[in-house]
Amino acid sequence: TVDLAEVNARFPSLQNDNVLRAIRGQSPDRIPVWVMRQAGRYLPEYLEYTKEKEFFSRCQNPEVACHLTLQPFERYDLDAAIIFSDILVVPQALGMEVKMVKGQGPVFLSVVRTREDWYNVERRLLARLGITDVPTEVQDEEIIKRSEEVADALSYVYDAITLTRTRLNGRVPLIGFCGAPWTLFVYASEAKKTKTYTECSKWIYTEPEFVHRILRVLAHVCARFLARQVHAGAQLLQVFESHADALPPKQWREFSLPYLNLIATMVKAQCPGIPMIVLPKNSPFALRTLADSPYDMVSIDQTLDLGESHRAMTAVGKGVQGNVAPTTLYAPPAKVKELVHEHLSEAFGEAGQIPTRYIANLGSGMNPDMDPECLAAFVEAVHAYGKQIEAS
Ligand code: CP3
Repeated sequence: TVDLAEVNARFPSLQNDNVLRAIRGQSPDRIPVWVMRQAGRYLPEYLEYTKEKEFFSRCQNPEVACHLTLQPFERYDLDAAIIFSDILVVPQALGMEVKMVKGQGPVFLSVVRTREDWYNVERRLLARLGITDVPTEVQDEEIIKRSEEVADALSYVYDAITLTRTRLNGRVPLIGFCGAPWTLFVYASEAKKTKTYTECSKWIYTEPEFVHRILRVLAHVCARFLARQVHAGAQLLQVFESHADALPPKQWREFSLPYLNLIATMVKAQCPGIPMIVLPKNSPFALRTLADSPYDMVSIDQTLDLGESHRAMTAVGKGVQGNVAPTTLYAPPAKVKELVHEHLSEAFGEAGQIPTRYIANLGSGMNPDMDPECLAAFVEAVHAYGKQIEAS
């Protein structure tokens, strides 16, 4: 097990713990705020720094990953940092070839469309660990037994986390993350961006049991990966179920939920006290079910009402993160401030009290064509909201 107190003792003490307090239900000094892909292409300094560096090479170099993680802190008064990495480093660690193609996004060179495709992934992975002669039917069990060794392949992420937390010098907590098994399976089966979800749907309606085999392997590797991130210094974890919307409610409960819960149960057993957030993208029905899960907080998008969601979750001792529509940032800065104030007022009241168990965020990540000034306005407006009452 990972002792959080022992890990904390290796690093500078935390100055701004508003995010952690919000999650624990203690009152923060202000509404904490961060955004997904806060390190990214909308920042000219990001474009400049990454010009000659291939995407995954940035993730693999701890100095580069650390530099990029810290870039937004030169501009914004954010309350959390998220380690520069990607959810697709896990499929890579399983031996799958993934490329980031300009204008197209991630592309898998090794696709999983048949049983044989997946058996080959397992076989190659075991061979890499020096294990041969495992009967095909039980390769998955063998990998699960050795998931700690599989997670060794991601040592560059742990190094980046340790370095970044050291350089953060206690300014804000550092978030570690991974993609959820279902989302990783969607990428592995579709191979590239999809609007139709053809391949993953064919899989679940023809070979449901085999899909469970794949998801179980992925969940065990993800859990080890997250626990190692905590050991390396991550103070909070987020699990991204970015393709939750590929599944209708009943299938979401079968193919997504059990593995989200398995991950949280395993990680919390291994790292007692570690706060965990889950993001089920574009699946408003998931919120109610996740109220009864090991996660501390659910990250919601603009398809849900913030006030209602927050009341429902705080009633069961959990919180919400979100959910300002990302398109809000296409308004001019002054209008962004107005819209954010309006959004928070509608959810929490005009008085501007700081709600507990709430972290402000966008419904999804920053886009490359957003104006950095608009993110500044967003962050300022969130912080200003809670100050209303003190001023009067
Ligand atoms: O600042 C941060 O949020 C931390 C870093 C981070 C990245 N990706 C960096 C990145 C995080 C948390 C992610 C998670 C991630 N990656 C998700 C889950 C979040 C979500 O949006 O639902 C997903 C689905 C991915 C897979 C992925 N990686 C996509 C869809 C893309 C965009 C491709 C494109 O061309 O638009 C990426 C690339 C990526 N990951 C970028 C960044 C900064 C941009 C690519 C670049 O800089 O060249």
